[in-house]
Amino acid sequence: MFASLMGWVDARFPATKMWEDHLSKYYAPKNFNFWYFFGSLAMLLLVLQIVTGIFLTMNYKPDAALAFASVEYIMRDVEWGWLIRYLHSTGASAFFVVVYLHMFRGLIYGSYKQPRELVWIFGMFIYMALMAEAFLGYLLPWGQMSFWGAQVIISLFGALPVIGADLALWIRGDFVVADATLNRFFAFHVIAVPLVLLGLVVAHIIALHEVGSNNPDGIEIKNHKDKNGIPLDGIPFHPYYSVKDIVGVVVFLFIFSLVLFYMPELDGWFLEKDNFVPANALKTPEHIVPLWYFTPFYAILRAVPDKLMGVMAMGGAQAILFLLPWLDRSPVKSIRYRGPYFRWALTLFIISFLALGYLGTQPATTLYTNIARVFSVIYFAFFILMPWYTSIDKDKPVPERVTSK
Ligand code: HEM
Repeated sequence: MFASLMGWVDARFPATKMWEDHLSKYYAPKNFNFWYFFGSLAMLLLVLQIVTGIFLTMNYKPDAALAFASVEYIMRDVEWGWLIRYLHSTGASAFFVVVYLHMFRGLIYGSYKQPRELVWIFGMFIYMALMAEAFLGYLLPWGQMSFWGAQVIISLFGALPVIGADLALWIRGDFVVADATLNRFFAFHVIAVPLVLLGLVVAHIIALHEVGSNNPDGIEIKNHKDKNGIPLDGIPFHPYYSVKDIVGVVVFLFIFSLVLFYMPELDGWFLEKDNFVPANALKTPEHIVPLWYFTPFYAILRAVPDKLMGVMAMGGAQAILFLLPWLDRSPVKSIRYRGPYFRWALTLFIISFLALGYLGTQPATTLYTNIARVFSVIYFAFFILMPWYTSIDKDKPVPERVTSK
């Protein structure tokens, strides 16, 4: 009966073909490791954010006079409201943890290199959309940090010559962050940006499945096929990786639950303490700091004395990531077979990124600002010098077939 039902469907919609192309006959390299869990975990978090977001919207009020109280109402009076809200707020930070690890995997295994440039570019657009989504969402609880964080970031547009002041006014819809701003941020946060994100994730996966996955050895498994055209080092995604990914999901949910149930605010790292105070346009908080996932870029912004140059450095720090596939000139993809120059450069880059992330959370003292300047230079040097050090690096020979089991 099932077969005849599927026959009927398949004559009208390519259900079986899609199942085979993307799951049961999608041949993935047999040597995926720990780093390959984060793509499916990112998908899980996207679904979690959308589902919890829908339930939050049922009780949240996008009105400057009611927003803060409506969030408190969700936390205290709505049945399970606290869980929905914490799933969403802790989920946002978890999403960035997962996406940063996912991007790091791309860096260490050269997954952005030919032929996967578009997988990376779509990924970068996802990352941009995700940052926009998080920024827009942070205004909604209408706490002190929501208000002043938005005030700082929108005023950055004011640094642009000629159009800056009008542009900032246009984005806010008022002379300061106000009800009009909250309403439009709500519209973008609940529908516009999530739609873009979903579309981009579909494009990301289609592009990946067109060229096939990379792997920890950075070897193209399509170069060695059997007589049926199946890669010798490939295994069907379903059931092998669909089952393996469940292990990743279980371990992730275990760690996520620990944070969610025992320290959902992570001492101000996931929900800032100042945001439990209602927005007050007359009282600026002592330190205005974004959440941790923005702080590396915030540190770069503050490291540059001139406002416009600072904004350009911050934008440039993100934009330069798009160029990675063309900056890297090494013929080798995986860190396993890379030479010492790339390894050192990557180590320094990671140290700089983490250090900038920390410095961005701290008050901008002279000492901290000077240290942030040094790390900002290293951050940019990693990319700008890449064409040079990757082309003269002493890479190791790459094996023909994948090495790990
Ligand atoms: C909502 C966010 C995202 C989702 C749901 C997502 C999903 C996925 C999935 C399911 C895979 C295949 C499984 C895997 O290799 O782990 C993948 C691969 C990949 N993603 Fe993402 N991704 C997201 C964001 C990003 C971002 C921000 C980047 C980089 C800027 C990126 C770059 C890549 C690359 C290069 C691959 C191929 C990796 C390889 O084959 O070695 N992704 N993504």
